[in-house]
Amino acid sequence: MAGTGTAHLRPEADVLLRVEDLRVEFPSGRGRVVHAVSDISFDIAPGETLGLVGESGCGKSTTGKAIMRLNPITSGRVVFDGRDLAKLSGSELRKVRPELQMIFQDPVSSINPRRRIFDVVAEPLKVWDRMDGAEELIDRVLDDVGLTPEIAKPKRRHEFSGGQCQRICIARALVLDPKLIICDEPVSALDVSVQAQILNVLEDMKERYGLTMMFIAHDLAVVKNISDRVAVMYLGKMCEVASPDDLFASPAHPYTATLLSAIPIPDPDVVPSAMDLDGELPSPLDPPSGCRFRTRCPRAAERCTTEEPLVREVGPDHYVACHFPLVGEEAPPEASTPVEVGSQQ
Ligand SMILES: Nc1ncnc2c1ncn2[C@@H]1O[C@H](COP(=O)(O)OP(=O)(O)O)[C@@H](O)[C@H]1O
Ligand code: SF4
Ligand SMILES: [Mg+2]
Repeated sequence: MAGTGTAHLRPEADVLLRVEDLRVEFPSGRGRVVHAVSDISFDIAPGETLGLVGESGCGKSTTGKAIMRLNPITSGRVVFDGRDLAKLSGSELRKVRPELQMIFQDPVSSINPRRRIFDVVAEPLKVWDRMDGAEELIDRVLDDVGLTPEIAKPKRRHEFSGGQCQRICIARALVLDPKLIICDEPVSALDVSVQAQILNVLEDMKERYGLTMMFIAHDLAVVKNISDRVAVMYLGKMCEVASPDDLFASPAHPYTATLLSAIPIPDPDVVPSAMDLDGELPSPLDPPSGCRFRTRCPRAAERCTTEEPLVREVGPDHYVACHFPLVGEEAPPEASTPVEVGSQQ
């Protein structure tokens, strides 16, 4: 995880989505490569919500878009409902695509300003040639997301608030009756006062439409209440996977602990020993050797420079990729060799 490994994956037959050793690299001039996502693995069982968390630039959106095949997949498997999406092409991919939908961070720019809301929500139905019964379906989804169909349908984007625009985007994602919905920071661009409302709409829709959900956020607090499992990412790698309760009560990865310490509202569940995060996020063009978190980790030792940690279980359904985790077996840093901050290979 901040290394690699698949020890935390459940049997393929028990999950709807299984992402295995996913790698996404972007060419970046003069032969350089952006290591945006580097061999990450996770899975989501039917009906489950997975929270995917990490600071900006760690590869969350790239992961979401790769699952949707909106980004190239350099290597790895993305098995959705038994089919490896990374291998599908053309008509096969077209058949599966309606079953996966994505909601983006900025609802306003996701909506064509010139179109009536009816046409915005109807767009996926047109693309997939499913316009039979569209009128009633669109009325139902608009009503489900809390908009009055008769009022909303003839209007255009500028007549709606940011929160209402996100409701429209949710309606548009639902008309094809998807199995999996990937929400990429769906409330980050909204006023704090409407964030909870939109989270409630998503929770409601998940129940009503029997959805499985991947919920991306840069803030652990946002995913705490809605996730069944949380996966923490750092610089294109996975750090920790656990239930939100375990993660908040006893974070095993030093990076998770620093994320928790950044949550401003005092929370009795948060461990008091959480640490501050020093230093800059290294460039994904030249990530550190060994554990990618080592240039900012207070527990880093020599071994962290040379050896990438593998995922292992530190508690029931609690997995971490760290040589010296904060919970689990006794494993203090051997010599606590200071590592020069910013030193990279
Ligand atoms: N199309 C692209 N071309 C080049 N680099 C990209 C592209 N998309 C994302 N990246 C880079 O990949 C890294 C991860 O980006 P992203 O997935 O957007 O992070 P997050 O969503 O966690 O903020 C960043 O360094 C970003 O600049
Ligand atoms: S202790 Fe080592 S392996 Fe664990 S997070 Fe820190 S640098 Fe990485
Ligand atoms: Mg993003």
